[in-house]
Amino acid sequence: MAFAAKILGTGSAFPQRRLTNDELAHQIAAGGVETNDRWIRERTGIRERRITDTGNSAETNSSLGTQAARNALAMAKKSAADIDQIIYATCTPDTIIPSTACWLQQKLGADRAWAMDINAACSGFVYGVVTGEQFIKSGHARTVLVVGAEVLSQFVNWTDRTSCILFGDGAGAAVLERVSDDSPGRILSSHLLSNGSLNGLFLIPAGGSKLEVTPERFHQNLHKIQMNGREIFKVAVRTLVECATRVLEQNQMTVADLDWFVPHQANIRIIEAVADRLNYPMDRVLVNVDRFGNTSAATIPTVLDGALRDGRIEPGQTVLFDAFGAGLTAGSVLLRW
Ligand SMILES: CC(C)(COP(=O)(O)OP(=O)(O)OC[C@H]1O[C@@H](n2cnc3c(N)ncnc32)[C@H](O)[C@@H]1OP(=O)(O)O)[C@@H](O)C(=O)NCCC(=O)NCCS
Repeated sequence: MAFAAKILGTGSAFPQRRLTNDELAHQIAAGGVETNDRWIRERTGIRERRITDTGNSAETNSSLGTQAARNALAMAKKSAADIDQIIYATCTPDTIIPSTACWLQQKLGADRAWAMDINAACSGFVYGVVTGEQFIKSGHARTVLVVGAEVLSQFVNWTDRTSCILFGDGAGAAVLERVSDDSPGRILSSHLLSNGSLNGLFLIPAGGSKLEVTPERFHQNLHKIQMNGREIFKVAVRTLVECATRVLEQNQMTVADLDWFVPHQANIRIIEAVADRLNYPMDRVLVNVDRFGNTSAATIPTVLDGALRDGRIEPGQTVLFDAFGAGLTAGSVLLRW
């Protein structure tokens, strides 16, 4: 029998601390950087974001991921012992070694699973879902936990007003389960792409094996995010439209067949521009960027989780995930709930 994968449950977790635009403006003004609530809201749609307390062990990347995973397992009516595989999408791991997937495995007690991280930046959750789906389709796994979680606040340059306003911390998770390939609820298809020649648009230059963080590089903030916002904006709109169109075409569908569009939450203006080019109504687009900012690999699973828990997404509906991120990486997943 041929297999397909279905999302059985989702979960989210966020740090307690809310950082509003006014607080952020006040905080960075102390370092001589000017911004304000109105500029941030008008240019990004963000009102506030969550920031981890680095002194609180419940707010590490893997702790937030574990909480999101527990919530997803509860919705899926599964236990940690059911998990065959853990895929942890993050570009802000607890530690470089071991993987954050292994930290989570220990916290969750998912002793039967094998665990690995993937880094596809903001596209990480979509890449994780597609990877997990392949292991399910090939018969190697029955139950896969996919987590997208980030603590970007540790990598933001708080003296760069063009980027520090955008990001927040959080975690989302999904439990994928094997179903037959004619199951009404299942992943229908996906489309992934990368373009490494755009690697300079969004980059943390130091801290990897290529460039050690020396005191001088530390003072130059080379271990923090560097971003070309205007260029990313244009590439993001183009790429999101391309990925959405491709995955719909693969299924002989159009946007008229879609019940919900779940784009990466980077900036409300990017989301609106994509919806406009696709000729898709904004009231069928799921959004949480206003409350959480850009949480990178966590945006799609957290916005999805919110819409499942408040009943907006219903069984039988058609949903499209659409992500882009540093790399450049991008991808879309079309599924029937
Ligand atoms: C970063 C971003 C919000 C900037 O918005 P924008 O409309 O492109 O703004 P611009 O860069 O054209 O800047 C306009 C002006 O506002 C200023 N400005 C930039 N950030 C500011 C801030 N936080 N507060 C006040 N003014 C700011 C700029 O210095 C510029 O001033 P100038 O006209 O005197 O030169 C937007 O480009 C963006 O979201 N890009 C995508 C980034 C992204 O998604 N990254 C993650 C990828 S997963």
